Amino acid sequence: MITARSTPNIALIKYWGNRNDDLRLCAAGSTSMTLDGPYVDVSVECADTFSVSSHNKKLGEKDIARFSKTYELIKTYLTAQSSQLRAQSSLSISIDSHIPPSIGLASSAAVFSALAKAIAGLLDTGLTDEQISVMARLGSGSAARSIFGGFAALTNHESRIANNELIDTSTAYQIATSEHWPLHDIIIVPSMDEKKVGSTEGHAAAWSSPHFRDRLSAIEHHRLQDCIDAIREKDFEKLQQVAEEDCLDMHRCMSTQTPPLNYLNAETHRITGEIEEIRKSEHLPVLYTMDAGPTVHLFCEESARMRVLEYAKAQKGCAIFEARAGKGSRILG
Ligand code: PMV
Repeated sequence: MITARSTPNIALIKYWGNRNDDLRLCAAGSTSMTLDGPYVDVSVECADTFSVSSHNKKLGEKDIARFSKTYELIKTYLTAQSSQLRAQSSLSISIDSHIPPSIGLASSAAVFSALAKAIAGLLDTGLTDEQISVMARLGSGSAARSIFGGFAALTNHESRIANNELIDTSTAYQIATSEHWPLHDIIIVPSMDEKKVGSTEGHAAAWSSPHFRDRLSAIEHHRLQDCIDAIREKDFEKLQQVAEEDCLDMHRCMSTQTPPLNYLNAETHRITGEIEEIRKSEHLPVLYTMDAGPTVHLFCEESARMRVLEYAKAQKGCAIFEARAGKGSRILG
């Protein structure tokens, strides 16, 4: 049995919409910071029949079907890589998640990156992290980025894109390590309600937003590169501008697709408005970003941490979590 541990990542340029929903081939590039917690452990071992269980959650039919489909796609991918890389015909998967449910932290990114890492460990054939990122992406697009510590990007390969539907035309890579820029993520959770529409369904309707094509073009022409440059140069102001622009743009696309997805609530808007004011009046290096839920992530440099924490703790009725840049997926033991 092999166990891998992984953590969520928070996108700075958001992944929204696919070229191919079945294979989770992203429509545009994205970037993120991998967190140092909370974590998920996923154990795998060879078995006669496919099974998946979770220590902390009763898995429904839909969840099991997602794992089973992911494993079938991983086998197809591995076989295409090399005839030596045939995965076991069946697998037993066991999940031990330490991510509190419904806090707006994408547990799927942690779960599927840990699953891919554990399968790679079981095969023990020296798969590269890029190959493991493809395996993770087949379960959840954003999971590809959690393979890496620090800052990562998930991008399309123009050179491989001649066949647009190939399984490895979207892969992740590391932009910089966690030591390069030890940012903090102070997380304010205004609502613990389970989200009604998950991102898999949301991605599939992304193209119906009248703003989606403009979004793809902005990411391709400047946002992705600006974000990567900001991370490499540790230019917080540049990161803040591009990350907030992209976050608001994704939520505009979400809320104008059919059916519309309105993940943000009045509390989210109040908090982001107040953060804009505090940033301006106190010259604080802090930025906000939100994924598929009302949870606000406040990224900041060390010099702003105490002030941002003080602000977060003053928010009545909100749960608060704190994380830093983490190390990415790893095999335990
Ligand atoms: O990987 P998924 O299918 O859970 O999609 C993630 C979507 C966002 O969290 C909204 C954005 C992102 O890049 O993580």
